[in-house]
Amino acid sequence: MAQKKLQRFEDLKTLQNVLQYPLNMGGNWKTFFNNKNPITLELACGKGEYAIGLAELYPQKNFIGIDIKGNRIWVGAKKALKLGLSNVAYLRIQIDKITEYFSAEEIEDIWITFPDPQLRTGKAKKRLTHPRFLRSYKHVLHPKGCIHLKTDSTALYKFTKLVIERYHCFLLEDIANVNNEKIVHEELKIKTYYESLDIAKSNQIYFLKFSLPEFFPDISADKLLQQFLKEYEHVD
Ligand SMILES: C[S@@+](CC[C@H](N)C(=O)[O-])C[C@H]1O[C@@H](n2cnc3c(N)ncnc32)[C@H](O)[C@@H]1O
Repeated sequence: MAQKKLQRFEDLKTLQNVLQYPLNMGGNWKTFFNNKNPITLELACGKGEYAIGLAELYPQKNFIGIDIKGNRIWVGAKKALKLGLSNVAYLRIQIDKITEYFSAEEIEDIWITFPDPQLRTGKAKKRLTHPRFLRSYKHVLHPKGCIHLKTDSTALYKFTKLVIERYHCFLLEDIANVNNEKIVHEELKIKTYYESLDIAKSNQIYFLKFSLPEFFPDISADKLLQQFLKEYEHVD
């Protein structure tokens, strides 16, 4: 492993705003932040630009960036410390295990920023807006909480809209290209590392905001996926 990466992994052990696979954190985040302010998660945070950008916009709220890659989290954690942001933390875990780290309704809002679209059908279960993930977000999210997705993937955008519709979620905002909007909310002006790379070379950024239903309908995610494939086979 490269020396720089190894050094970052060593650093992570000592940074006070980083937790790696911590035990017994569910229900204890207020103690960690030393206040009762609401908590927003940035999932797939990478270098955590949204956690930092939102923390600057909303000093009365707390933000936790979540990613599995320690060397990326390191960048956000160091920056947050340099900026003196005590309302930002980073959690190194698998998002699949999120319910082990937060208690019921402990989270006010969730942002998912440029997650891997996982385009191969066999990987669909890894998409962070797959019903499997929505069920675990439902557990940790306050009933009035919202999910915000920012992506440059047409396929992930369309897949998520289908999930929203079929799983009776409430679509609150749907922007087909943030870059074409005349007036853009400050929150959407925050740019992530992947966003600036513009891998899709489309200069097209989709945004969806939605909330979750009280109960999910009992439908098979596999059937949903088959339908998605039929309708959107040629997308991306
Ligand atoms: C394409 S990058 C985007 C990073 C950042 N949000 C950005 O826009 O620059 C996707 C990130 O999601 C993380 N990730 C994907 N699936 C994950 C999972 N199940 N648990 C934790 N992290 C995950 C990856 O490690 C990677 O850093």
